[in-house]
Amino acid sequence: MIHNIAVLLSGNGSNLKAIIDKGIKVSFVASNNSKALGLKIAKNANIPSYSWKNVLELEKEVLKLIIEYDIKLLVLAGYMRLLSQNFVNSLPSKFIVNVHPSLLPKYKGMNAIKQAIDDCAEYTGVTIHYVDEGIDSGSIIKQNMIKINENDTEEILKDRLQEIEHRLYSDTIKSILIKNQ
Ligand code: GRF
Repeated sequence: MIHNIAVLLSGNGSNLKAIIDKGIKVSFVASNNSKALGLKIAKNANIPSYSWKNVLELEKEVLKLIIEYDIKLLVLAGYMRLLSQNFVNSLPSKFIVNVHPSLLPKYKGMNAIKQAIDDCAEYTGVTIHYVDEGIDSGSIIKQNMIKINENDTEEILKDRLQEIEHRLYSDTIKSILIKNQ
């Protein structure tokens, strides 16, 4: 089975690595940040990688690449920019997925982990969702919950959540691709 997915990222790319390690075929990676570590992960895995600082240019070029590479699913993995309405509406519904470190609809947007700690929440988790034009507002595909421990700092909680993300995101992407075959 060939899985043609593309990944957009801005940072470390640990979710990209988990997806690659799962054996999912990543056709290309694009970033708004030419220094993103995730681009190095792509290069090491011989995946074509691109970067454009200007996000509107990035979106325009990514739309062309989606057709060129016959992409079936666009995966956001730490892409820190809001996609334009025009970009989202140019693609079929349920074409873009994202991973977010909270139990949406709680703690949308930036600093979701800090928001949960500051809120003294008892639980938080990871959400995989489809992307629409809003901020973390698309329909939810999967969630995993964890208890916030008393001694959890933002860093500790981030590590615990990322461990879940790596498994949950790659598993979910794989099931979507199998289902859509
Ligand atoms: C993840 O924690 C994800 O929840 C959020 O951005 C982070 C990306 O991490 N959307 P990485 O770049 O995959 O390591």
